[in-house]
Amino acid sequence: MNNKRISKDMLDRRSFVRSGLLAGGAAMSVGLLADAKPAQARERGRLTQGDEAILRFLAAAELIEADLWIQYAELGGIGDNQPVEINPNQPMNNYQIALSNLDGDGPQYITSNTLDEVSHANFLNAYLESRGGRSVDFSEFTTLPGSTADGSSRTKRLTNLMKLNVDTSWFVRYRSATNPDLGATFPQAITLNNVTAIPRNNADFNGTTNGNFPGNNHIQAIANVAAFHFGMIEQGGTSLYAAMSKKVTDPEVLDVTLAIGGDEIAHFLEWVDFAGNGVQQPVAPFTDAISGLTFPDFFNNPPLQPPSLVQPSLIFPVPCEFIDSNLPRVSVIRPITDKFAGATAAAQSLIASGLFIGQSRRFINTLLGMAAEADAAVRFAL
Ligand SMILES: [Fe+2]
Ligand SMILES: [Fe+2]
Repeated sequence: MNNKRISKDMLDRRSFVRSGLLAGGAAMSVGLLADAKPAQARERGRLTQGDEAILRFLAAAELIEADLWIQYAELGGIGDNQPVEINPNQPMNNYQIALSNLDGDGPQYITSNTLDEVSHANFLNAYLESRGGRSVDFSEFTTLPGSTADGSSRTKRLTNLMKLNVDTSWFVRYRSATNPDLGATFPQAITLNNVTAIPRNNADFNGTTNGNFPGNNHIQAIANVAAFHFGMIEQGGTSLYAAMSKKVTDPEVLDVTLAIGGDEIAHFLEWVDFAGNGVQQPVAPFTDAISGLTFPDFFNNPPLQPPSLVQPSLIFPVPCEFIDSNLPRVSVIRPITDKFAGATAAAQSLIASGLFIGQSRRFINTLLGMAAEADAAVRFAL
């Protein structure tokens, strides 16, 4: 690492050390002396410019995650705003039932994932402020109309889940022995363009009854779209935190990115399994005549060859090439490079997915600006 390239960061840090000792550093100085363990003393001063940019983009990503997951939780979760017992005679419960068809605990997982995202966003913003950084506030952009279906709070939203282009290539990527960071590309496991992942209104709770599973084909198709979207979002978070962690300078900030990033991996794993359950028996195969979506049984009618590329039961990352294709294949998170997993890549992926349809140009520019600053961060030795 060439330290000369990050001289601005270093200057910022040095100026903190000076001003910290002179101005607000009295308590810290006493603490350092009393502790008498310089190796363990942690300088919780101002963040480097790069670390702040990384944390700010991650806070932005978490606010986006929280907003979309809250919509899922209101309609498909269980807990505070939903009955613990799902009543099959209530049409508004059909989305929860369809999600339960993918995993009996699906509604609980959705609520838990939502709480996690809210905690990530709240923590990152509080942490930024605790280190003298600027927190992220998207409330001025929370303007989009959401679902009007029963269960929705009908509050304004930051994200739009009703016209999504869900990138399902992650489903193939994690079953492949090739690596996007080494140039590999992957086809879609299933094409999901301009589709809704939530019931948009009460009409979406109804559809043609399918004797193979409770509920109906229409709401099941919506739940299946959601399942692939859950995986898309959480694999993106998984890769993003890995890419950002490589650029962090302060070990305490690395604590933050590694620990929260690990939770994104935990989320991702569940949704890999969950999405796979939508493309095997007893849920698949089925067709929703209303949306026109068909979900094949990937075990008996795999859309790609070899069948292992879409085998639903391969839920852990299949070993792939890593660093150098001459090295042994290894089971890893991928991608982790800035080009494919960095902040700009993550933002562009979300924009292309239609998640911000209806949003202002200013929001898009704000997000991309924050992404560019995060990607520009460079790690250096303290
Ligand atoms: Fe998160
Ligand atoms: Fe997440």
